Amino acid sequence: MDKRQEMARPDLKRIDEIIARYQDQKWPLIPLLQEIQQQFGYIPLETINPIGRAFRLFPSQVQGVITFYEQLYTTPRGKNIVRVCRGTACHVRGGKTILKLVKQHLGLEEGETSPDLEYTLETVACIGVCALAPNIVIGKETHGNMNPKKVARLFEGRKGEG
Ligand code: FES
Repeated sequence: MDKRQEMARPDLKRIDEIIARYQDQKWPLIPLLQEIQQQFGYIPLETINPIGRAFRLFPSQVQGVITFYEQLYTTPRGKNIVRVCRGTACHVRGGKTILKLVKQHLGLEEGETSPDLEYTLETVACIGVCALAPNIVIGKETHGNMNPKKVARLFEGRKGEG
């Protein structure tokens, strides 16, 4: 088992220790959820009941907060978040094909994470560099003027390569 998979396994003892640190805070829920996500890479579903008990909330209320905040996740995410732009400028310059190719190379659909936790594939409305369309972002790095060759180069060696 690699390190990321180990990280993804919830250790409920650790969860209790983390919760305890927020017990006396006035508005603990968001910072607590953020810390759990930082520690585990996501918010394991097993943590929702202990959080609810600690702060006298129904599990559905804790879940509701997680669902409301787009940056909180209850499933593991890849080390590399790949965002393909589906904004208008990228769309008219071949963004749809780029997305299709990225899906093929990674063997993933939108919103999915590879089993080795290397990649998560997402789409975004516009990343603000329309002049370089079509664009994709991997982690913090933007790759502009994408074409099939560039996509192949970026994901060389991936299993799902199409
Ligand atoms: S539409 Fe893709 S960067 Fe703006």
